[in-house]
Amino acid sequence: MADRTEIDVDGFRRALSCFATGVTVVTALDAKGEKVGITVSSFNSVSLEPPLILWSVGVDSMSYDVFTSAKYFAVHVLALHQQELSDQFALSGNNKFATLDCSEGIHGVPILPEFAACLECSTEYVYPGGDHKIIVGRVHRCEDREADPLIIHRSRFLRKEGPA
Ligand SMILES: Cc1cc2nc3c(=O)[nH]c(=O)nc-3n(C[C@H](O)[C@H](O)[C@H](O)COP(=O)(O)O)c2cc1C
Repeated sequence: MADRTEIDVDGFRRALSCFATGVTVVTALDAKGEKVGITVSSFNSVSLEPPLILWSVGVDSMSYDVFTSAKYFAVHVLALHQQELSDQFALSGNNKFATLDCSEGIHGVPILPEFAACLECSTEYVYPGGDHKIIVGRVHRCEDREADPLIIHRSRFLRKEGPA
């Protein structure tokens, strides 16, 4: 059996990519009130009562400090047609919101105009997780627009729509 030192990073990444996931964009406001957002696939459900979800933010993300200290954030589950938006929010840096007409959610968090589902959260816990921090959020509002989801598997977006 491989011990910790024998784990090869590329092989580990490839093995993880076998697990198909949805794709989300997580948004918040920084201390100056500027919008920040990143593409995230580490999102998952945690608890129904109380309603808790989690996701993890990498230390290399420019938004790391904002998200690990933000009191509120919103998770947008992307719809099948939003691959371009996923690419846009996966680019490091500013100006990701320039072309987007956002509304304001809980405590002013940016809400994207389009999504399959949106969860508005307060930060409940932040746990260490290696080169990431695990953020657990309590959901205060959620909306489901019943769209087909954007799904990623083996680092590729799946293009198939679900049954009608
Ligand atoms: C499909 C996909 C999923 C991603 N999931 C995560 C994630 O769960 N956590 C994370 O920190 N970064 C994730 N990333 C990478 C960030 O979106 C990327 O590093 C982004 O540039 C960070 O933006 P920032 O540097 O402006 O904060 C993902 C990227 C893609 C394309």
